[in-house]
Amino acid sequence: MSTHQTQVVIIGGGPSGLLLSQLLHCKGIRSIVLEKHTREYVLGRIRAGVLEHGFVNLMREAGCSGRLNREGEIHAGFHIAHQGRLDRIDLAKHTGGETVMVYGQTEVTRDLYEARDVMGGVILHDVQNVQPHALKDARAYVTWEQDGAAHRADCDFIVGADGFHGVSRKSIPAEVLKEYEKVYPFGWLGVLSETPPVAQELIYARHERGFALCSLRSRVLSRYYIQVPLTDRAEDWSDAAFWTELKRRLPEQVAGQLETGPSIEKSIAPLRSFVAEPMRYGNLFLAGDAAHIVPPTGAKGLNSAASDIYYLYHGFLGHYLQGDSTALDRYSEQALARVWKAERFSWWMTNLLHRFPQGTETDLRLQRADLDYLFSSEAAQASLAENYVGLPY
Ligand code: FAD
Ligand code: DHB
Repeated sequence: MSTHQTQVVIIGGGPSGLLLSQLLHCKGIRSIVLEKHTREYVLGRIRAGVLEHGFVNLMREAGCSGRLNREGEIHAGFHIAHQGRLDRIDLAKHTGGETVMVYGQTEVTRDLYEARDVMGGVILHDVQNVQPHALKDARAYVTWEQDGAAHRADCDFIVGADGFHGVSRKSIPAEVLKEYEKVYPFGWLGVLSETPPVAQELIYARHERGFALCSLRSRVLSRYYIQVPLTDRAEDWSDAAFWTELKRRLPEQVAGQLETGPSIEKSIAPLRSFVAEPMRYGNLFLAGDAAHIVPPTGAKGLNSAASDIYYLYHGFLGHYLQGDSTALDRYSEQALARVWKAERFSWWMTNLLHRFPQGTETDLRLQRADLDYLFSSEAAQASLAENYVGLPY
């Protein structure tokens, strides 16, 4: 068995794991990233597209913001289509000038991989049977297999950034971990197409037939979603059927402008609210999707992962550079306080804009009242805007 020595072993080479490893490296703290899949596979996943300014600041601090600054689009507002109207939420006006950036998760991940390569960061791909050990001992270790050989890394800490289906959360004893979960009775069918976006800003649409979202990645790349039953399969949706259904859910003036084309990616994501508490067990820290999932309405998934990394990074800085573990010891409590607010916001926005299959006439009237209130109250719009641009860390 080959043995490695490091300070932090990071399980998972998604955005959470890569960002943390890059930030730590910039401060001289050593880590190894263990990723189950190939780099091509990780970069092939099309996921989030809207970054809070806090995330952008972290990418800057990690020295990874060159391309993001050039190619990312600043958005100072977005639209909500409902009852035949198209209303705008002015993010900048309601937040003292804050905005969000449209820049895909795939590009964030690509930039982080490149920065890790330039600095000689250790990222091991295609690793199998990753297992954390000795979580309650003075030092922990992780074992794995690669190309048929067994490996081990001794470390001070393990960070579980291995997503919802990873091994890290499962390593915490069931009697310690409490899981909170809500599964929604629908999914999002997403399409990526090489067509100009239908509008310059995002449009979230509430419609009798179900939710729809018009988003984008660039001036020539669009991302659209429609709410679908959980029983649907992406391969059963032809491109033509997708475009027809999307247009039916958009206001006429928007649908008339929509430019369609062949899809270059099509997939269905289920919607779930999930939180695991605590986010620390001994030497193991959970971060990102390994600890929590939000339904995507409001774009808080990737951004909540980034806020965990912010708290964890500052915890490690205190521990390693100042010999003060106070922030590290408060990690779970601090991260969870912000996570639950993102959970609340995503749950609210999901309820506001989706058609619930078992929803009653009363539910519909309450939903309509919620929307009417939103666009009749500056305070309600300010609350939405404050959450959308991202609550402070
Ligand atoms: P992940 O990106 O899941 O990364 C975890 C990594 O760990 C993966 O690369 C995985 O291969 C690796 N791994 C897993 N198990 C192991 C193991 N045992 N050993 C080693 N490595 C392992 N958010 C939004 O805001 N908007 C969206 O539109 C949106 N769409 C989404 C669509 C889908 C299908 C999914 C799954 C998520 C979506 N999200 C979206 C959420 C957002 O993408 C996540 O919040 C974000 O990816 C979290 O980053 P992460 O690094 O914590 O986890
Ligand atoms: C995107 C996804 C979201 O969940 C959202 O709220 C906004 C944009 C996107 O993939 O572009």
